[in-house]
Amino acid sequence: MERRAGLFITLEGGDGSGKSTQSARLTGWLTDAGHAVVVTREPGGTSLGLELRDIVLHRRGEIAPRAEALLYAADRAHHIATVVRPALDRGEIVVQDRYIDSSVAYQGAGRVLDGDEVRGISLWATENLLPDLTVLLDLHEADGRDRMAERTKYDRLEAEKSDFHARVRAGYLALAAAEPERFLVLDARLPIDELAAAIRKRVESLLAAQAG
Ligand code: TYD
Repeated sequence: MERRAGLFITLEGGDGSGKSTQSARLTGWLTDAGHAVVVTREPGGTSLGLELRDIVLHRRGEIAPRAEALLYAADRAHHIATVVRPALDRGEIVVQDRYIDSSVAYQGAGRVLDGDEVRGISLWATENLLPDLTVLLDLHEADGRDRMAERTKYDRLEAEKSDFHARVRAGYLALAAAEPERFLVLDARLPIDELAAAIRKRVESLLAAQAG
């Protein structure tokens, strides 16, 4: 992987797996420790991205699978070029909700496209930027639905049927198995504090390795 000053951490998992809670916990801890942190997400981490997010998640009617994959990739290309790379170049820590692995799991394993092709599009879009650490909050499909039921408004993808979510989960687990050094896989049903502690421990060792 290319050398750079900052640290790029992504959180992945099914809808309702607790990514935003853990992102907030990690960010709070890093900020308290004196690090400059940029907290961001995809889709929608830029103003262009918010428009693309609206199209891809809330547009009525069909979006062809390849068009959907390209919309996510367009959001990603702009986000990485204008937000993430500049922050990493400044030596900051980027904590990001969803990235390339979301596209491979949702547009690849979850739908009809080839996962390697979807990954290839994202790598082109980002000039091959991979995270230093990807935390996968692995969630059994039923638990995700339970949590989602507390929310009132379902978006287009959240309304997909359950075999889709099972394929997404399997896709994520396959990605983690293929790159065990990049991924930290945690059972999303563990208590919030336990998950936060496990993530912190891994980030601490990355920071120590970077300092040494
Ligand atoms: P997000 O806002 O993170 O919602 P949630 O809180 O449910 O995780 O993501 C919105 C949806 O976009 C989510 O269902 C996953 C989907 N998605 C893709 O299908 N491909 C992608 O590349 C990304 C980034 C997200």
